[in-house]
Amino acid sequence: MVDVPSAHAVQSWRALPAQQQPQWPDPAALHQAVVTLTKALPLVFPRECDLLKSRLAAVARGEAFLVQGGDCAESLDAVSATSISRTAGTIQQLATVFGYAMSLPVVTIGRMAGQYAKPRSKPTETRDGVELPVYRGDAVNGFAFDAASRTPDPQRLVRIYNASTATLNLIRAFGTGELAAPDAALERIKHFAAGAPGRHAYEALATGIEQAGGFTGTDGWHTPGELFMSHEGLLLDYESALTRVDSRTARPYATSGHLLWIGERTRQPDGAHVEYFASISNPIAVKIGPSIAEDELLRLIDRLDPEREPGRLTLVARMGAAQIRNVLPGLVKRVTAEGLPVAWVSDPMHGNTITAPCGHKTRRFEDILDELTGFFEVIGGAGAHPGGVHLELTGDDVAECVGAGLTFDDLPARYRSVCDPRLNREQSLNLAFQLADDILKRHRLVGTGLASGGR
Ligand code: PEP
Ligand code: CO
Repeated sequence: MVDVPSAHAVQSWRALPAQQQPQWPDPAALHQAVVTLTKALPLVFPRECDLLKSRLAAVARGEAFLVQGGDCAESLDAVSATSISRTAGTIQQLATVFGYAMSLPVVTIGRMAGQYAKPRSKPTETRDGVELPVYRGDAVNGFAFDAASRTPDPQRLVRIYNASTATLNLIRAFGTGELAAPDAALERIKHFAAGAPGRHAYEALATGIEQAGGFTGTDGWHTPGELFMSHEGLLLDYESALTRVDSRTARPYATSGHLLWIGERTRQPDGAHVEYFASISNPIAVKIGPSIAEDELLRLIDRLDPEREPGRLTLVARMGAAQIRNVLPGLVKRVTAEGLPVAWVSDPMHGNTITAPCGHKTRRFEDILDELTGFFEVIGGAGAHPGGVHLELTGDDVAECVGAGLTFDDLPARYRSVCDPRLNREQSLNLAFQLADDILKRHRLVGTGLASGGR
């Protein structure tokens, strides 16, 4: 079914500059880990990746909506059945709300089962005059600030592969279990709405969702509990060791996750990441920040989706609330004018990171909501389809983002993220409800002919 790749199939990236790769101190140990992974079983299968691609093709056509979410960085210490099922449940609750608001079936993807490597702005971190390698995610080194744990250890690549396997196993079981049934999501939503501050509007929305019959798509293809897996394909040694040639199609697929994305810091059109991603057949995404130029974006699309394959490429805009209304319109208009079949998704997290007085990285709920609102305005205004949301969230009761019930003072006691701040379940549902309300109001305006294309 899936075979070890022929040596040259996915190695062309090695000739090009690769940003954000760790300096492994022991090349022999890296080689050993790569050999182990090359023989390891695939986590996902090409057929599943193709199914996701067909789902994302529907997203690009405006016939489905994507909800993608999970940790900024998974952590080996925090892999727990409770936490995994809560996060999977939260994604499903958001899917229920967005599906109703958009009147569309929803595709769900976790930032889970492989999201262990982080791009960083500096190679080292200094505390009290001591300088050590920066934490690059549990795939590379340890979070604790001491020389031993900060030394990159390639054996970690095998550990995170094993942890991802276990996570995925649990999610696959969860998807067929009671907890993933639409009723469970609906119960949670009703419970949230009944206790929410903006209760009146929320309860009406929850009743609407219940009457509409949950989020099973009208055309019937959305299977509740169908949750695909994704992560940033940052560490190219890891990804290429887990790439396999599909014997059905003779094409290479990354088998570490269904969808991989290229981060804002590694999307150089002539760089190693774009080269590797161009060589695999999975559905892929690329993050785009406010500095991208229109021509640069078109070049990236040419490199990553030369065949203009529906569902192949998702563009994830992460512009920041202050920039989205200025930067995104030109890009969307250009891509639409060229007739390129991409899906447009909003990551309202990464352009809105600030530092709290206590020193933690945080994000304001209102900025996240504002960027998302701007995304819907801009995409709708350009005649394209708002395809979905990409969020850093958890089902756990953490305090990492501020607003919607949490203040700066709440952060120190309940901040668990080893990287960026996540929305907790209440905040995630709050965001979905506020957006849903806004989306439904717009639909009504369109229905009565009062809308004029944006606020
Ligand atoms: C992330 O998704 O955690 C991330 C680092 O995003 P970006 O590449 O958009 O900065
Ligand atoms: Co992040």
